[in-house]
Amino acid sequence: MDVSEPLVYIDGKFYPKSEAKISVYDHGLLYGDGVFEGIRVYDGVVFLLKEHIDRLYNSAKFIKLNIPISKEEMMAAVIETVKRNRAKNSYIRLLVTRGVGDLGLDPRKCSRASIIIIVEQIQLVGGAAKEKGISAIIASTRRDSVSATTHEVKSLNYLNSILAKLEANEAGADMAIMLDSRGFVSEAEAANIFIVRNGTIATPPTTAGILDGVTRRRIIKLIRELGMEVVERDITPFELITAEEVFLTGTGAEILPVTKINGIQIGDGVPGPITRKVMQEFEKLVKSGKEGVRVQFD
Ligand SMILES: Cc1ncc(COP(=O)(O)O)c(C=O)c1O
Repeated sequence: MDVSEPLVYIDGKFYPKSEAKISVYDHGLLYGDGVFEGIRVYDGVVFLLKEHIDRLYNSAKFIKLNIPISKEEMMAAVIETVKRNRAKNSYIRLLVTRGVGDLGLDPRKCSRASIIIIVEQIQLVGGAAKEKGISAIIASTRRDSVSATTHEVKSLNYLNSILAKLEANEAGADMAIMLDSRGFVSEAEAANIFIVRNGTIATPPTTAGILDGVTRRRIIKLIRELGMEVVERDITPFELITAEEVFLTGTGAEILPVTKINGIQIGDGVPGPITRKVMQEFEKLVKSGKEGVRVQFD
C-alpha cells in the first residue's frame, strides 16, 4: 500500500485509491441506480455539509433507496474521510448505490446499499474562466421532465447532462445550457443558472427540471441578505440571450459568469457588476468558515 494514495471509504472501511473497488453487479454501475453529492472543503470546513446530507437523503427517499446509516453517522463518515486524507481544501464525492444485485433491474434483488466517499484535491474550474467568463450553447437535448427521471433527484444517471456536454464539446463551447421539457431555461449540465435582466436577478424554479442546487439556495439567500431582489421564475431562451448578465452556480463551478451563448455576446461580454458583487460576497462567506462543519485535524 502506497501511503501517499488517497483513502477511499467504502461501507465503513478505508482503502487506498488503487484498491478501492466495488462489484460489477452493483446496480449503481449496471443501471445508474443510486444517488450522490459533490461537496467542497474550504480550509478545513466542509461547506454546507448538513444541506448536502439532507438532499442526499431526500434523493434516496424518492427512489426508495434505504441508506443503511443515519444522517449523523453519514456526516461523521464524511468528516473522518476528510480527516484521514488531511484534505483541508478538497472536493468530496459521496455516493450511495443500490448495491449488489443480479443482472435484472429489480432493486428488490439488492439487499444492501453501498456507501462510497472519495476525497480528492482536484482543480475544478480555473481562475481565468471566473475572470473572463465562459461560453455556452443552448443544447438541443432537453432536461428530463419532472414527471420522468426528475433532476430534483441527484442520481447516478447523468446521461442527460452528458448528451448536452457532447453538444457543447462539438460546438467548441465551455458549457451546455439545457431547456426543460416545455422549452424554458432549466440549468447547465452540472450547475444552476441565474440571469440579471432589467436590473432584476432571476433563476428558474424547481418546476423547470433543475437540480435544486445547494449553492443556488445559498446564493438566493445571499442576494437577499445583500438587500437585492431575486425571483424564481420561468425564463425564456430569449430572456436568457438578451440578459445583461448570466452566471452559473454549483459546488464545482462555484460562481461562473457566462459571457457568450450560441455565439452571441451577453451584455458587455465581460462579467457584469452584479455577478462580480455576488462572486466577491460568496468568497467572503466561504472564507468566513462559518457555513459548514469544521474538521479537527490532529
Ligand atoms: C445538474 C446539476 N445542476 C446543478 C448543480 C449544482 O448543485 P450544487 O450547488 O448543489 O452543487 C449540480 C452539481 O453538481 C448538477 O449536477
